[in-house]
Amino acid sequence: MAAVFGKIQIGIYVEIKRSDGRIHQAMVTSLNEENDSVTVEWIENGDTKGKEIDLESIFALNTDLAPEEEIAQSPETPPPASSAIKVNKIPQNKNRKTVAPPKNETPARDNRGTTRARPSQQIEAPPPPPAAVPPTTIQQQTLQQQNARRKSNCVKEVEKLQEKRERRRIQQQELREKRAQEVEATTPNYEIMCMIRDFRASLDYRPLTTADLIEDHRICVCVRTRPINKKEMTMKDLDVITIPSKDVVMVHEPKQKVDLTRYLENQTFRFDYTFDDTATNEMVYRFTARPLVETIFERGMATCFAYGQTGSGKTHTMGGDFSGKNQDCSKGIYALAARDVFLMLKKPVYKKLDLQVYATFFEIYSGKVFDLLNRKAKLRVLEDGKQQVQVVGLQEREVKCTEDVLKLIEMGNSCRTSGQTSANAHSSRSHAVFQIILRRRGKMHGKFSLIDLAGNERGADTSSADRQTRLEGAEINKSLLALKECIRALGRNKPHTPFRASKLTQVLRDSFIGENSRTCMIATISPGMTSCENTLNTLRYANRVKEFGISPSDIPFSQGGGGRSELSPTYEYDDFATSPSRVKELTIDPSAVMDTGPGGHSVNQLEVLEAQWGVGSSPQRDDLKLLCEQNEEEVSPQLFTFHEVVSQLVEMEEQVLEDHRIVFQESIRWLEDEKVLLEMTEEVDYDAESYATQLEQILDQKIDVFTELRDKVKSFRSALQEEEQASKQINPKRPRAL
Ligand SMILES: Nc1ncnc2c1ncn2[C@@H]1O[C@H](COP(=O)(O)OP(=O)(O)OP(=O)(O)O)[C@@H](O)[C@H]1O
Ligand SMILES: [Mg+2]
Repeated sequence: MAAVFGKIQIGIYVEIKRSDGRIHQAMVTSLNEENDSVTVEWIENGDTKGKEIDLESIFALNTDLAPEEEIAQSPETPPPASSAIKVNKIPQNKNRKTVAPPKNETPARDNRGTTRARPSQQIEAPPPPPAAVPPTTIQQQTLQQQNARRKSNCVKEVEKLQEKRERRRIQQQELREKRAQEVEATTPNYEIMCMIRDFRASLDYRPLTTADLIEDHRICVCVRTRPINKKEMTMKDLDVITIPSKDVVMVHEPKQKVDLTRYLENQTFRFDYTFDDTATNEMVYRFTARPLVETIFERGMATCFAYGQTGSGKTHTMGGDFSGKNQDCSKGIYALAARDVFLMLKKPVYKKLDLQVYATFFEIYSGKVFDLLNRKAKLRVLEDGKQQVQVVGLQEREVKCTEDVLKLIEMGNSCRTSGQTSANAHSSRSHAVFQIILRRRGKMHGKFSLIDLAGNERGADTSSADRQTRLEGAEINKSLLALKECIRALGRNKPHTPFRASKLTQVLRDSFIGENSRTCMIATISPGMTSCENTLNTLRYANRVKEFGISPSDIPFSQGGGGRSELSPTYEYDDFATSPSRVKELTIDPSAVMDTGPGGHSVNQLEVLEAQWGVGSSPQRDDLKLLCEQNEEEVSPQLFTFHEVVSQLVEMEEQVLEDHRIVFQESIRWLEDEKVLLEMTEEVDYDAESYATQLEQILDQKIDVFTELRDKVKSFRSALQEEEQASKQINPKRPRAL
């Protein structure tokens, strides 16, 4: 160890002085010979912090540690120069808007990854300009002039050290400036990067830890951001998400003023929990789905949704980590929940209930249900007179252990994946529902539904040129709106939920009613700046599901805090009570939909049609109407019309198919009857009158049935054209992704 360190050793505690004047103890973790400094660490607010301090400052506060000769020969050791301590650079501007720093500001690398643990150590403050000679030096120079002859070896040593350090600082400054120019040339959003970095440096990170309390929520809404991925890095996308504490997420949205100055708008949201990009699935599970496992043992219904933009990590969260093309489904929330169900089953209190565990796995794609455990068989959803919804023919497989569940998940995932390769992003357009069902002597005891929702930005595809894409988009848009309203209604114990407005909410209906229903939503977000708009839409949606207020004290600034104006607006509770003035006229605007050449209907024709099909007052349409009223801001009148037309179209399609099947069966029966009739005519003395009467009856029946089916098919074809016209009327800016 060099003599210059005196009695300082790694592991001892020394006094240090902070930039705000505080003096406290810190542990020495390294001795830096190259620049005559030491690195120290201490714990503050549960975080380990550290910084590098030069020897002079250390010796000034810890005189007993200085080299022997220095104390003996330099009793007038000058006080330390505060500028000599490398300190955190705390930006003064903590406003919601952070303005771009001057172009020539010294850059530093993005400190995000490690800042969380030890923020101060990563942030290099620009060194003082060479001209700013510390008072130490001035005093020493005067001393030298007066007492040139008495100059001690130690003082000479200190002078040398100072000269050396000054030279090194100048060199480092030059190097940084050179690097900054290089970075600036290659980083398209360099200014924004600096602003975000500076903002983050002002925070005192307090992320969620396993030691945090798991609260009991009936509705829990949280956010998870994934790490920036290779593609985003290659595109030089910036990470614009900051999670400063266990329940706050900030989006640094780059904006531009009219004079082209760029600034950051820091939008802040609060949820029940926020998970940063280092959080594992196990950690997310611990705070979200795990508390719901007990619900199903207590005869309740639990649901857990992963909601977010395509590629934001829904399947990763629910289904498990991907390594290449293979998914490790044992690490997903489906499997983690199953594991805990089997663990809980062994508890004496539940063991005596003699419960059996079953699993189902299905997909809702464009409003149609497919069984992922039965080669994607298409299933029908029926509602009986008691409003009980049934997915007819859905396979419910008994499972005895977690491994059984993993096999089913793999089986179902392979179905989803094969769809994805053949029809590109097919799976991301579908909602996948995995259910764990507890039964007692055959009767339902409790049900846990875990849902990997379709990418929310797909809901905006309603004006696509391709009908299939439009219908999928409409169904996604409608189902996500309906889901939001159903959860909101659950949270407020509202008597009516518009669950019939979409297939998703229809099949999950029993999850949104009853005293003992609990739900959690994990909103997944992509951290890149290019995803900013979708991310904000996701966060706004999640915020509407359960409205949280936000106050300045929610943001843990390391020094002071900001004003209320710095935050995104507080979302206040809005009851959305149905008032007559909010109810919109439901008839389709003729100018918007009709007048469009062959195939178009007039309003009257449409009314006739509705009467003929009996769809005018269906519960589905009533719920759709309610849903659109509840979401006037997101649903433009044109989109509402489109949703109506699509709903009608889907109902018509189902009826045409159903009727066609019946006619097909009837036709077989008629063939048999006609065969008997013709055989009868082979007899010499057959009854010609009876033959003619019977044949006439059959033909009349056929004509009636065929005419009816033909008319329905005609209307169905018109509805298809209508759908196309209605889609063209939708303002391309709306709907925004949900
Ligand atoms: N928290 C995370 N940590 C590491 N990688 C992640 C994380 N979340 C997602 N990823 C990776 O990002 C990619 C996209 O994630 P994923 O497939 O889960 O997105 P998604 O939201 O399901 O998208 P889609 O709506 O298209 O189905 C995957 O390669 C996944 O492994
Ligand atoms: Mg997915």
